[in-house]
Amino acid sequence: MILTSAQIENFNENGFLLIQNVFTQEEMTLMLEEMEQVIIEDCPRRILEKSGYVRSFFAPEASNEFFARVIRQKRVLRPAMQLLESDVYAHQTKLNTKHALVGDWWDWHQDYTFWKKDDAMLEPTVLTAMIFLNEVTEFNGPLFLIPGSHKAGMLESGERNIHGEQSEEWFSAYQNSTKYMSALTADLKYTLEQKTIASWIERQGIYSAKGAAGSVLFFHGNVFHASPNNLSPWHRHTFLITYNSTANPLQDIPEPRPGFIASRNFTPIRALDDDSLVP
Ligand code: SIN
Ligand code: MN
Repeated sequence: MILTSAQIENFNENGFLLIQNVFTQEEMTLMLEEMEQVIIEDCPRRILEKSGYVRSFFAPEASNEFFARVIRQKRVLRPAMQLLESDVYAHQTKLNTKHALVGDWWDWHQDYTFWKKDDAMLEPTVLTAMIFLNEVTEFNGPLFLIPGSHKAGMLESGERNIHGEQSEEWFSAYQNSTKYMSALTADLKYTLEQKTIASWIERQGIYSAKGAAGSVLFFHGNVFHASPNNLSPWHRHTFLITYNSTANPLQDIPEPRPGFIASRNFTPIRALDDDSLVP
């Protein structure tokens, strides 16, 4: 898939671009089946919510060939290369499973803050392709984005104290079980200040990314975004691929996060010739 100049302009102006029906319903049925296989594995790549349901599963391609092929699909890779004007590698990949009736929220944040502060990524030449495995509606926890907010650059955000008194005991222990965990659970480590969000929304409004299963949302590393709980009886499962420019490799740091959260394999990804996920 090649983006038009209008689509590129749209992304540069808003900090995101939603394209409907990039993948077929058949492909999304297959992806959901593969997802179910992947997320049953109890391992450090699996992140839980307070409810005990899976919130995220990092680097599914490490154990699943199907997801390895998704990352190399022309339909997501080519637009990422066009938008970043560069070869790219996958900095981070994850399944965000937002389960019907229990799926938890994501507070307002910029992704690049995590990658700069925790992974030593020097430039925000990075974006995420979010693939909708289910239809996303106003009810099942769509991603909210503030148009144009990527132009603000990375804002300083205080590091949140995650040892909240209201946390269940097991969840506090879980969140503190490793150094990197607090960047992954619902009590996000770096969030944007409420007054900043309020004034940006006052001026720019909020966009809610809704679409059919198989749609893809591309969003810039600095765009302000969040998503509400899923109070509906419909799942909102998504697969997110963060592509970073190969000209922007992570710097060496003393205690890097695990490779399944921040890859240090900067080899350019090449598109597959066979651009279908159906065998
Ligand atoms: C993200 O903030 O990167 C994902 C949020 C979501 O899954 O709604
Ligand atoms: Mn994010």
